[in-house]
Amino acid sequence: MSIACESTSIMSMSRPPTYIRVVLANRPETFIDPDTFIIETKALGDLQPSDTHVAVRVDYISLDPAMRGWINEKESYVSPVEIGETMRAFGIGTVVKVKEGKSDGLKVGDVVKGQMGWTEYNLLRESELMKLSIQRGLDAVDYLGPLGHPGFTAYFGLLDVGKIKAGETLLVSGAAGAVGSLVCQIGKLKGCRVIAIAGSQEKCDWLEKELGVDKALNYKDEDFYEKCKGIMAASGPRADAGGWDVYFDNVGGDVSDFMLTRMRRGARVALCGIISQYNTTKPTGLTSYMNLISMRAKIEGFLVMDYAARFAEAEREMAQWILEGKLKRKFHIVEGLAKAPESINLLFTGGNTGKLIVKVSRGEERHL
Ligand SMILES: NC(=O)c1ccc[n+]([C@@H]2O[C@H](COP(=O)([O-])OP(=O)(O)OC[C@H]3O[C@@H](n4cnc5c(N)ncnc54)[C@H](OP(=O)(O)O)[C@@H]3O)[C@@H](O)[C@H]2O)c1
Repeated sequence: MSIACESTSIMSMSRPPTYIRVVLANRPETFIDPDTFIIETKALGDLQPSDTHVAVRVDYISLDPAMRGWINEKESYVSPVEIGETMRAFGIGTVVKVKEGKSDGLKVGDVVKGQMGWTEYNLLRESELMKLSIQRGLDAVDYLGPLGHPGFTAYFGLLDVGKIKAGETLLVSGAAGAVGSLVCQIGKLKGCRVIAIAGSQEKCDWLEKELGVDKALNYKDEDFYEKCKGIMAASGPRADAGGWDVYFDNVGGDVSDFMLTRMRRGARVALCGIISQYNTTKPTGLTSYMNLISMRAKIEGFLVMDYAARFAEAEREMAQWILEGKLKRKFHIVEGLAKAPESINLLFTGGNTGKLIVKVSRGEERHL
């Protein structure tokens, strides 16, 4: 596992009875800016556990591209975060207080995962938390990466939606990110030729040299489309013509539009995300979709949440691959909750490689 840590200053820790949380202040039109969130200081003593709720110290939160959609006013697959509400985030925490005399359920010291929010402490419904038993060789942050939503997205998106088969050519956009880097590796494990697309030479080198993809291309290179044409000679009606069989698309936009002209017969697009469009008010559409007809191909969108009943299956297999040294994971960890609002834009500028996480707690004791 490789971890890149950004050392940052964090707010003063000198007042033990308080904690900070980050709330939504304004809905941005395009990129998240300094006015989007504000930091509030709250009294720790307000977080008193009950029969149904436990007090949790938040240790890590996941930063995800979907968060950009959650702060839009429009309802999508989840309700929008309201102005004045703590920003929603999945994370890992430690139970620090349960109701006195309560003998069943979670205990102080249990490590849990669930909707933590952008806050240092939270009072959370016990039934919505999952206790983690971290196996030797694995780490808590793995449950926000390969053993969490990014991992499940890669696993079900590629195997269930993309229906990848050995010997096929897999094309992956956003390939050096949390989901994409796992998709590339699962593709190799399944015996595919993998072509990866990412936004820098450094990322391409990592994909080829560390993750073992067959070819990585930088979509910011001037000759990117020329290189693509060379690697994926124009597709034709023959099933064995150049091109890709499965395109795991994380980015949408111009890159994906071009890729639709390079598919093989019977091709499948597992439409995971369109990050190139998340900060625009009017996403641009695809124009090359007519090729889907002649290629008898399909584009299928999916949401990882629909696979919730099968998460354990993916977790088991991904954990096995990690423990056998077949699946590499990389984390970009930012230190300090106060850094979350500016760090989320790393996802949209390409500043992250691997899974972007905020380390919220320093593991210190603050008494409720
Ligand atoms: N369908 C689902 O259930 C589901 C679940 C989880 C995630 N997702 C989607 O999966 C995708 C990847 O998510 P992630 O968490 O793994 O994020 P990520 O890939 O770790 O980070 C986002 C990456 O996207 C790339 N990017 C940003 N703007 C771009 C642009 N304009 N054009 C091309 N690439 C751009 C950047 O890499 P470069 O340096 O390469 O540009 C950036 O590092 C997102 O679209 C997300 O919404 C979907």
